[in-house]
Amino acid sequence: MRSERIIGLSLCRRLGISVVIVFCVSLSGFVSPAIGQSTGAAQGRILYNETSHTFRMDGGGVSYVFGVNQNGELQNLYWGQRLQSADPILPAHTNGGTSAFDLPVNATPQEFTGWGGGLVVVPDLKISFPDGNRDLVLHYVSHTIRDNTLTVSLKDISRDVAVDLIYRMDDETGVLARSARIENRTKLPFTIEQAFAATWNLGASNDYQLRYLTGRWAGEWNLQQMPLHPGKVVLESRRGSTGDEVNPWFAIERSSQPDQDVGEVWFGALGWSGSWQINVETDWQDRVRVTGGYTPFDFAYVLAPGESLEAPTFYGGYSNAGIGGASRLLHRFELDSIVPQAPHRRLRPVLYNSWEATGFDVNEAGQEALAEKAASIGGERFVMDDGWFGQRKDDHAGLGDWYVNPEKFPHGLKPLIDKVHALGMDFGLWVEPEMVNPNSELYRKHPDWVLNFTGRPRTEGRNQLVLNLARDDVRAYVYGFLDRLLSENDIAFLKWDYNRNWSEPGWAAAPLDEQKEVYVKYVQNLYSILTELREKHPHVEIESCSGGGARVDLGILRLTDEVWPSDNTDPFDRLSIQDGFTYAYAPGVMMAWVTDSPNWMNDRSTSLEYRFLSSMQGSLGIGANLNKWKPEDFATAKRLIAEYKAVRATVQNGELYRIISPALGSEYSATESVSRDAREAAIFAFLHSSQKGKPYPQLYPRGLDPEAVYSLHLQEGKLAEDTVPRASGDYWMHHGVNVSLRGDFQAAFFTLKQDAAQ
Ligand code: DGJ
Repeated sequence: MRSERIIGLSLCRRLGISVVIVFCVSLSGFVSPAIGQSTGAAQGRILYNETSHTFRMDGGGVSYVFGVNQNGELQNLYWGQRLQSADPILPAHTNGGTSAFDLPVNATPQEFTGWGGGLVVVPDLKISFPDGNRDLVLHYVSHTIRDNTLTVSLKDISRDVAVDLIYRMDDETGVLARSARIENRTKLPFTIEQAFAATWNLGASNDYQLRYLTGRWAGEWNLQQMPLHPGKVVLESRRGSTGDEVNPWFAIERSSQPDQDVGEVWFGALGWSGSWQINVETDWQDRVRVTGGYTPFDFAYVLAPGESLEAPTFYGGYSNAGIGGASRLLHRFELDSIVPQAPHRRLRPVLYNSWEATGFDVNEAGQEALAEKAASIGGERFVMDDGWFGQRKDDHAGLGDWYVNPEKFPHGLKPLIDKVHALGMDFGLWVEPEMVNPNSELYRKHPDWVLNFTGRPRTEGRNQLVLNLARDDVRAYVYGFLDRLLSENDIAFLKWDYNRNWSEPGWAAAPLDEQKEVYVKYVQNLYSILTELREKHPHVEIESCSGGGARVDLGILRLTDEVWPSDNTDPFDRLSIQDGFTYAYAPGVMMAWVTDSPNWMNDRSTSLEYRFLSSMQGSLGIGANLNKWKPEDFATAKRLIAEYKAVRATVQNGELYRIISPALGSEYSATESVSRDAREAAIFAFLHSSQKGKPYPQLYPRGLDPEAVYSLHLQEGKLAEDTVPRASGDYWMHHGVNVSLRGDFQAAFFTLKQDAAQ
């Protein structure tokens, strides 16, 4: 137990500044605030040591420590495995640098840097002042600790530029959320040219490995891995939104042979759905700095006196249980702290979506027929996709005109919605609110509402243009039609699509020096629309879709309940797509449809069982054309949906173990989801094709209680005949399970369940 005594109201003076706070003093010299102290089960806490002028945050199995050095800079001292309470923390001391070319300001692992004073590493903040000065040197001023949040205030050494660094560590996972608020307290406007949330520092090591996720349309979520050497790796989107080319997530391991469940991993993810940048910079002494926030490319934000700008939140975490442990921490954090209903998230319902069945050709009778069939197999939500509005017959027209198409739905949406409800499902609808087709009433009326540069071509993607959501009138229009849609119809779910990136990002109506603020204000308005809609229609759930997985990040996940990871629904491709996705995001937010065979993507034929098992590793949906199904398909689907519902809490909220990853080009792959109380595990195994008569590798489940007894229940596929029905967790984890899969595109699914009495 930490021993502490209240010493009352104290005034601490450092470097000519002061902070007022109520302190408790621990034996190790740390003072912690008596107000707003976290009461979380894992005892997260923020401690301030007045003597050494250091801050220590503990949460889950992680400690994060920094201090104010003799120059007034914030210097990182430690980030890693949780330290013992009484462990010494030495005061921060500026690193000396090694030559005139290597100034201390660059050698010191600072928490947040302004570009100035000889800084050559990536700065967090770069400002141009109206008098031509561009030098910015930020020093500690004061701090507050309130509601489990540490705010450290910095200020430029001569100008009234104030920066508040905000730190909030999750008690349970140790994931630390960091952001920076920049305020202009001078008398003149200045221009921010670069604004990041934070610098994450890792100590010198010559065996760091970087992992990140890359992709393209229908080929998202490829895990990349590379050793880090001196130099800079830039992960970035200049697309106006998160993008799928690179996802704003990284992980760094200290090992030349990274392992799924062993070894130290530092990871992070940005909470921003616009253009972004993460820099992973390895310096001349093998120290690593990771910085991130708005991409500085084409960035300029004018801050008038009294105004402030907050950088996107940058989340960072640490695991000593390998990359698998890192993703499990992130999943838990996302489900318990990020998504809108956290920590009491509703399990994802089994949904049916009409897109692959009907394309744009939707109408009342056709949708009702599909709804009947979806309900008959256990569907819980029926979603009508694209094609129901305006003059939408294909992707050339209609976006922007959000009235129900009278030929397709002569009586409006009500008859279909009533029918869906009568079938015991709730109703969802596809929208793409931020886009407009030039062939639409909206565009003909408001051609100035789209992103464009005056007098220049407007490049179309999928025959559509991007509405400039930064404009107040566009924001009002978009919010207005969505609010009306949700008020006039009993809609439980919106699939919010976004099918292109930006081009010609001009905003002619804004003052010249503010036009580049479109990158920030667009996304702020997107977030504010989502926030307001959710407040007014609290029962409505939302999926973030961007032609697949091009807008998945911790910013959009704060406001949406699930995401669509890829338009590629080939069940074999999906294994690696889903595997990559789960490095950064939880299976519980990953929508996965069962579609038709042969699949349109690769013309590959697979059994319905294989398709189901592939999708059952996430949040199950059905996207097949049920009109073409045979009676036996309905029976199979009904059985598998029931099996899924029985384990969905474990799959969606549990701990994911990659028993065999498909990322390494393996013809085998297997995942295991273990419920948080370790009472149940769901294991899915897949075979691409048998070769040379080789047997399927023995599977070794993980994360079970070694002493508890588990019964094995085979749901689909085949196990070796001598598989025992009951054994200890130790037995299953070390003896393993012999899945006897042979042939092409085979799959198995079994559960391990603790006996009820235990
Ligand atoms: C792209 C989405 O990813 C698809 O699922 C579908 O909704 C289409 N858009 C509709 O246009």
